[in-house]
Amino acid sequence: MVNMLDKHSRKINYLRLSVTDRCNLRCIYCMPKEGVDFTKNHELLTIEEMLKIVKSAAELGIKKVRITGGEPLLRNGVIELISKIKSLSKIQHVYLTTNGILLDHYMDQLIKVGLDGINISLDSLREDIFEKITRGGNLQTVLKSIETCDKEGIKIKLNTVILKGVNDKEILDFVYFSKKSGLDIRFIELMPIGESKGFKAFTTNELKNYIQKEMLLIPCEESIGDNGPAAYYKTTDSRNRIGFISPISHSFCHNCNRIRVTSEGFLKQCLHWKYGIDLKTLIRRGIGEEELKKVISDGIFNKPKEHNFKSQNEQTDIRLMSQIGG
Ligand code: 5AD
Ligand code: SF4
Repeated sequence: MVNMLDKHSRKINYLRLSVTDRCNLRCIYCMPKEGVDFTKNHELLTIEEMLKIVKSAAELGIKKVRITGGEPLLRNGVIELISKIKSLSKIQHVYLTTNGILLDHYMDQLIKVGLDGINISLDSLREDIFEKITRGGNLQTVLKSIETCDKEGIKIKLNTVILKGVNDKEILDFVYFSKKSGLDIRFIELMPIGESKGFKAFTTNELKNYIQKEMLLIPCEESIGDNGPAAYYKTTDSRNRIGFISPISHSFCHNCNRIRVTSEGFLKQCLHWKYGIDLKTLIRRGIGEEELKKVISDGIFNKPKEHNFKSQNEQTDIRLMSQIGG
């Protein structure tokens, strides 16, 4: 079994593959109101090009792939892509991150191709606030998708970003929603990327202190390790877990196991830095399989040690989250 270590001795086995920068929502902390210039179709990786990259990455030790966007379900061919990635023997798990708007519609197909789990963004449980945050999204549509997913037995995690003065009255509502539904919820600290700079966010400690005034949070043993960057807690008498993802207050870079490929085919070694490798151009120039593997492996090896969100500079990536793939 291949295990790829970067130069900081981190095992890299997780690829986040963005399949589009388009989205059917316009979340206030993610996209500007006036919209963005979306990438032209011919500038996006084709499904075949994505598969080439995933195959090479799998040869190098990538075992888990998450399909992201923008909104990945807007991308033509995404089901076929998932199905083909699933058929690669070295890939153990394929996950999807979605805003849930189109999920109900694609559910049967996603189940059929064997998707292993879904992360759904859910930033409010109140219709008016959900609509305000997403600039027009319908909460009921997402809740229905969540319910269907759950009934079908697909593993779901909910992702929530709490913004001061926007959805901060709902912190406990989210916890109760998670307890009632039995679904894990993760509170994510807002990262200073693109549009988010105009918002004040909560730190994990602030959120935990707030919740702990109401109930006990019991740390879960399995919260470290392959579970990713979330630290999980249980509340008494419930099946669910409350997770906290703290890229700002408790950087988890020392445990980072991931690389990203944008929908334009740019291999990003770290969410924060602008550096990476333009795989699309190399592929379109006809790079061979072995050479591609070498380029990706060099990219993985040279992953930067850590992000530097606290002091932005000219090396900071100016791409939006929807362009990077979250
Ligand atoms: N900081 C933290 N999370 C973000 N997301 C989008 N932009 C940011 C940001 N600046 C989240 C979305 C979604 C996930 C894919 O990324 O809320 O849940
Ligand atoms: Fe779309 Fe996700 Fe950005 Fe919202 S946060 S606009 S759902 S990509």
